[in-house]
Amino acid sequence: MRSDKAMVTSPATIANFGPGFDSFGLCLASPIDRISIRRTGKGSVALRVTGKYEVPTASEENTSSYAAMRLAELCDNGKQGFTMTVKKGMKPGSGIGSSAASSVGGALAMAAILGVKDKEVILEAAAMGEELVSGVRHYDNVAAALYGGFTVVADAEARKIIAIKPPELQVVVLMPDISVKTRDARAVLPKKVAIDDAVRNLSFASGMVHAMMRRDARAVGSYLDDRLSVPYRKKLVPGFDVVRESGLEAGALGISLAGSGPAMFALAERDAGRIRLAMTRAFRSATGLESKSFVTTPGGGARVESIS
Ligand code: HSE
Repeated sequence: MRSDKAMVTSPATIANFGPGFDSFGLCLASPIDRISIRRTGKGSVALRVTGKYEVPTASEENTSSYAAMRLAELCDNGKQGFTMTVKKGMKPGSGIGSSAASSVGGALAMAAILGVKDKEVILEAAAMGEELVSGVRHYDNVAAALYGGFTVVADAEARKIIAIKPPELQVVVLMPDISVKTRDARAVLPKKVAIDDAVRNLSFASGMVHAMMRRDARAVGSYLDDRLSVPYRKKLVPGFDVVRESGLEAGALGISLAGSGPAMFALAERDAGRIRLAMTRAFRSATGLESKSFVTTPGGGARVESIS
């Protein structure tokens, strides 16, 4: 049956997740973007963006409509005409996968009305949306947003994604009131890293996958360390070390940078409220800046909520 309209939801994600630079991702239950699509005649794309966050409104610059158009092309469906409404539920440039949520939502919405079920194609179109904003077709955020749970980009070239159901966790996210573009956060990374840093990350990444498979929250927290990106990026996030210390003292199982930052996240089995407060206060007293924060849990991924 031909479908003419659909509505999908697509969640925030935490890429890298400690030692898995460009490889690991954790899907969050909230916040989410809501993306509606309706077929029109051939060729024209009308985009409307709602919500309080500012994102591009030109169809070739907005990741939702851009990923939707790429999906149609990948499926040989030519130049689809459609109207799309994007209700942004998360702040761009904060590190919680805003562009990936929109990209996955746009690609999934177009897939829904075209009857495309192949997740690899949806993943690819969504990653093109990531490339539009960061200059690199990285799959970690889009994989987590699309598949849900904890995801490993096991082979980016072969589009091999492994999805693992994580243990029960509380996730505290602190978003400093500053913005860091992924493109800029990638520019501070070295072209080469020391072999012992690479080995350390390999060990921690292996431990992390094992901990996820055993659904052991404490072990997951203990492997939340990174030597490949966080040491270089934390200078873009004022107060990083102080906030991390205070969250750990308040009982967090582990704390790291969310994606390319500036958001930080803490994992906990309990006391998420106390950890959130400790991190917020530490950030304010160390920097004089304000932040937003929330507590969520791992989530199940993007969903087609309605189709007709
Ligand atoms: N893996 C990407 C990076 C995620 O760290 O640059 C961007 O959110």
